[in-house]
Amino acid sequence: MEHTRWYKDAVFYQIWPRSFRDGDGDGLGDLWGVYEKLDYIRSLGVDGVWFSPLYPSPGVDCGYDISDYMDIAPEYGGMEAFRKVLDGAHERGMRVIMDLVVNHTSDEHEWFRKSRRRIEPYTDYYIWRPDPGKGKLPNNWDSNFEGKAWTFDQERGEYYLHLFAVKQPDLNMDNPLVRQEVKKILKFWLDMGVDGFREDVITYISKREGLPNDHLFPVYKGIRFYNHGPHVHEYLREFKAEVLDHYDCMTLAEAPLVSPKRALDYISEETGQMDMMIQFQCMCADCLFSDYFHMSFSLRRLKHAFSSWQRKLEGKAWNMLYLENHDHPRVISRYGSERYRVKSGKMLAAAYLFQKGTPFVYQGQEIGMTNWRPQDPELYEDVQTRWQYANTHLKDTPEKRLRRMWLASRDSARTPMQWSGEENAGFTTGKPWFSVNENYREINVAAAEEDPDSLLHFYRRAIALRKALPVVRHGSYREYHALSSRRYTYAREWEGERLLVLCSFSEKDIPLRIPGGFDLTKAELVLQNYADPDGKTLKPYETRVYHWAK
Ligand code: GLC
Repeated sequence: MEHTRWYKDAVFYQIWPRSFRDGDGDGLGDLWGVYEKLDYIRSLGVDGVWFSPLYPSPGVDCGYDISDYMDIAPEYGGMEAFRKVLDGAHERGMRVIMDLVVNHTSDEHEWFRKSRRRIEPYTDYYIWRPDPGKGKLPNNWDSNFEGKAWTFDQERGEYYLHLFAVKQPDLNMDNPLVRQEVKKILKFWLDMGVDGFREDVITYISKREGLPNDHLFPVYKGIRFYNHGPHVHEYLREFKAEVLDHYDCMTLAEAPLVSPKRALDYISEETGQMDMMIQFQCMCADCLFSDYFHMSFSLRRLKHAFSSWQRKLEGKAWNMLYLENHDHPRVISRYGSERYRVKSGKMLAAAYLFQKGTPFVYQGQEIGMTNWRPQDPELYEDVQTRWQYANTHLKDTPEKRLRRMWLASRDSARTPMQWSGEENAGFTTGKPWFSVNENYREINVAAAEEDPDSLLHFYRRAIALRKALPVVRHGSYREYHALSSRRYTYAREWEGERLLVLCSFSEKDIPLRIPGGFDLTKAELVLQNYADPDGKTLKPYETRVYHWAK
């Protein structure tokens, strides 16, 4: 089957189903709610939807702990609702991609239940190690979420590896039967008509033989032995050759700690095994490796991430562009300004939507939702946040520790979508499963629809523009003023057509600077976030997009 690379012309919207829209009044988002909102999603100009996991799950990691890969959770409406949404999306010209989470399962998956009882053929489906005794663990690796990466299972009398929560045991991908299962899952959904997969921490699936101790890193111990492990490309090639190549589908690899050079091993158009990659460098402009190692925001770090991926993938692989997802705090609260919420939200949109690649917009980003900051740490639902709060920086005051969570927690971006100023932000008629951000009366879809100057309408305009201008799809990328810590300037060029994007990240006026060779008198200002841009100054968080036709 020919791969048409349709995703290069697409803009995607990410749905985190629990908090998107509740259609049946039980307080939890579901597919009936999504169905109601398909026209809204389409109205943004997007042509694809990525669903965070919809499968049956105990919910320890909000669905990333799967107990059945071939079904849809009943609380989301089951298979019936899913088919309706899938058809409804396709009818509106939108593709649907699923989250494939196969580094680990839930410990309530049937495979794990059987594995812990050594029932064949499941005995070696997971990574088991005997008890070394004397209170020792099989090795010193850390889990990404909850302390050490090993938990003793009484039933089997052995330790199992979990790189995430205790209830997320890692699959043993070296076992050909496990890979067989993965291929079955891929096939099952593709045959149903889904258009591809976002593959969760897919770079972790092959662990270094012998699972050696890690004496190099002080945190995330072990990561150098399981990220980009020895057989990862071989396994991905197998999935591609045996399944994915037979469908016109798209795959997106989630890849923590990856450089553009390494990315090419996965997504090179000639030799790669997948199509695009979610890299984390653009999420590290105010932190080191992880949101929990917070630093002050550095525009230069952000620009470096943007530009190195643009440059190094050029002509070789295709970028995936994003500024938000369900794993990070809201971008206006991080890289923009809540004081200039709408202005900075628009500027941030222009900063990434005109780069080369396929943009993703996360639910709520398009209306400028900001971080949620609970007064009580008990209100956090996320397994990682709860562990971090209870186990790190214990010498600090509780207030200081809570503030740390405000800056880092994924829950900052997981509160219910704000549809209106009505009770519970119009998310549910029942009792919401999770706190609604108090700012919903001001920040919501209904209000944004009414206001022609809203961020929502700006997203629509920007997306429409990116589709109308071939230079955005095909053009080269060049950054200017790279050393500036206040401005981000980039240009795109294709067969004589040019685009220049100016973004101010400053709360103060800064001088307008146009790179040499760009004659504004011949350009059209096609997008802006101030009504009266002047010839000398960029106002706080101002953005402008100039276009030169061929
Ligand atoms: C990915 C997901 C995240 C999840 C983790 C474990 O990073 O995006 O939400 O918790 O993997 O599955």
